[in-house]
Amino acid sequence: MPNHIIRHFLLVYNMSRIIFLVFGGIIMGRLLYDENNLPEINSLKAANYDTIDKSTVEPVKRVGVLTSGGDAPGMNAAIRSVVRAGINAGFEMYGVTRGYHGLWKGEIKQLDGRSVSETLQRGGTFLMTARSKSFMTDQGVLKGARMMEAYELDALIVIGGDGSYKGARALARIGMPVIGMPGTIDNDIASTEYTIGYDTAMNTAMQCIDKLRDTASSHERCSVIEVMGRNAGWIALNVGIATGAESILIPEVPYDFNRDVLRVILDGRNTGKKHYIVIVAEGVCKAEEIAKQIEEATGIEARPTILGHLQRGGSPTLRDRTIASLMGIKAIDCLVEKRFNRLVCMQHGEITDVDIETGLEMTKTITPEAIANVKRLG
Ligand code: F6P
Repeated sequence: MPNHIIRHFLLVYNMSRIIFLVFGGIIMGRLLYDENNLPEINSLKAANYDTIDKSTVEPVKRVGVLTSGGDAPGMNAAIRSVVRAGINAGFEMYGVTRGYHGLWKGEIKQLDGRSVSETLQRGGTFLMTARSKSFMTDQGVLKGARMMEAYELDALIVIGGDGSYKGARALARIGMPVIGMPGTIDNDIASTEYTIGYDTAMNTAMQCIDKLRDTASSHERCSVIEVMGRNAGWIALNVGIATGAESILIPEVPYDFNRDVLRVILDGRNTGKKHYIVIVAEGVCKAEEIAKQIEEATGIEARPTILGHLQRGGSPTLRDRTIASLMGIKAIDCLVEKRFNRLVCMQHGEITDVDIETGLEMTKTITPEAIANVKRLG
């Protein structure tokens, strides 16, 4: 066969291989990562043990605990609490490393009371964590359940945010008993007024912003600070109040630059203000863009700062340590009482629990009035 025909054939062959691999990869990726790809499990409901005769329910013996999603200060305190309270209740406690990813891989080890010593005051999570979207496929959930069975775990305590709760709910829907504990700096879990890590993150942000105020004041500048919260403005709102911010922009309340930023700064300047603090939740827009707009519109020098993952680290505050500890005890109480598939939460200031299906249907938001209130402090 002539060379040019062979070359042509090879070119076509290689191009088709590339196209096949790229499109095949995209399709496989979608199958693995599409969070809604749970057609069968989605049509089920987790058992509500409040309606089940407890004498027919086997008592729990072996309990797994994992942390999942973004880490949050106080997660260690939560693990320590469930491990110690669990052992004191007569359970064998097992730590699963790297969230659902570790469950999949069987990274499961028994924990005794001493293995959680010296963890109470440490930030992060010694069990480590991961964002494991592939767990949300049918295969992922079934594999997780198989691992629970292989390690004879009668129940799994999941410490994390809404995404982690959805993984727990999927396990519950196929008959694996779970308990959720709220761990995220964002405070964006609808079933609870408070999430473990929120207080530490806010205090960290507040301390950073106090420092930024010093330099903004010395230079008569505007400091635009981006805090965490892709979909939730809880950190921005409260840290903004605590640091005397002129303007707070959050994802829940649409903003108008002229009205909510520019006007406030110009009014402040008219009353003799020399420096300004603007807080932007990361989900709203980039601090850099807002700083540029302010500088262009007012001539006031504006400097952007992104606090980023600083807010996720550090030794947990007293509030996070105590709430994590008390929530851990509540999680174990649910297991002792054979009340599975519950989400531990804070409601009206009390630590309690709610059914996982109900909890995941709840909604929570910040009202425009909360932001409007801030203007009254200017
Ligand atoms: O855990 C919550 C959170 O800190 C959000 O506030 C933020 O948007 C996100 O996690 C950042 O995630 P990652 O760790 O993947 O950068």
